[in-house]
Amino acid sequence: MASYENLRYEVDGFIATITIAREKALNALNRHTLNELTWALREADGDARVRAVILTGAGDKAFVAGADISEMVEQGATEARGFAQAGRAVGDVLENLSKPVIAAVNGFALGGGTELALACDFIYASDRAKFGQPEVNLGVIPGFGGTQRLPRRVGLARATELILTGDIIGADEALRIGLVNKVVPAAELLAEAKKCAEKIASKGPLAVAYARRALRKSVELTLSAGNDLEGELFALLFATQDQKEGMKAFLAKRPAKFEGK
Ligand code: CAA
Repeated sequence: MASYENLRYEVDGFIATITIAREKALNALNRHTLNELTWALREADGDARVRAVILTGAGDKAFVAGADISEMVEQGATEARGFAQAGRAVGDVLENLSKPVIAAVNGFALGGGTELALACDFIYASDRAKFGQPEVNLGVIPGFGGTQRLPRRVGLARATELILTGDIIGADEALRIGLVNKVVPAAELLAEAKKCAEKIASKGPLAVAYARRALRKSVELTLSAGNDLEGELFALLFATQDQKEGMKAFLAKRPAKFEGK
């Protein structure tokens, strides 16, 4: 297992938990942390024990308070482009992972923090969570995908209002507009995320991976192309042991034992 400076990577049963751990800077994403996130997500993807991932922040104050402002302050355009690309790379890895990732947002998720959570499959939030894209306060715009993923999640008008005002919203408002799937008391956040991750991990891993791939593509493809992809992935699953096991187990009235093969 790799060791990380600004992250913790832990595996318990089928679940990997990646914790961003730069508490002194409210887990702000500097270049090194972005690189480590890319590596840790790839590690989880290649880890045969792991069937689902939880991404969270250390401490009880912040998930991620944004991209690291002290690192960005003196950047020129070329460096800023590289920095944005490092953030984009994390989003790209999340898009293409073969395993689902639940963001467990335990506090401030601002700027790059909201963007990171948005790139995960879905978000569970503590009742203390706060979301927002305050980049305009700093004279910039979101750089890790916020202008693209936020409108896809909450609609163009709501995303435009959030990004142009820089307003910060609480967990209940985030739930109301569909940014998060569930809000739970802070003390229960990780347990709730784990419960959901374990439920997913009990299903056929290849079915989960293919369903996730089709779902992710649904926002990019035409209905016809999306249905083509779904049909191909559906058919491909009939070449797996998991499909035979799942259907035989149903007919034999016993629980299925999936091996991801
Ligand atoms: N980058 C670097 N350091 C940060 C940070 C960030 N995004 N957010 C907080 N910190 C640091 C603070 O500088 C402070 O450090 P010191 O103790 O050394 O002074 C420490 O974390 C604690 O922060 P505060 O004292 O500010 O804590 P607070 O409780 O008073 O406020 C907060 C909390 C409202 C989250 C406030 O820290 C804040 O507004 N942070 C910045 C939020 C922000 O603007 N995020 C967007 C960044 S730009 C971006 O993300 C661009 C992009 O899309 C790629």
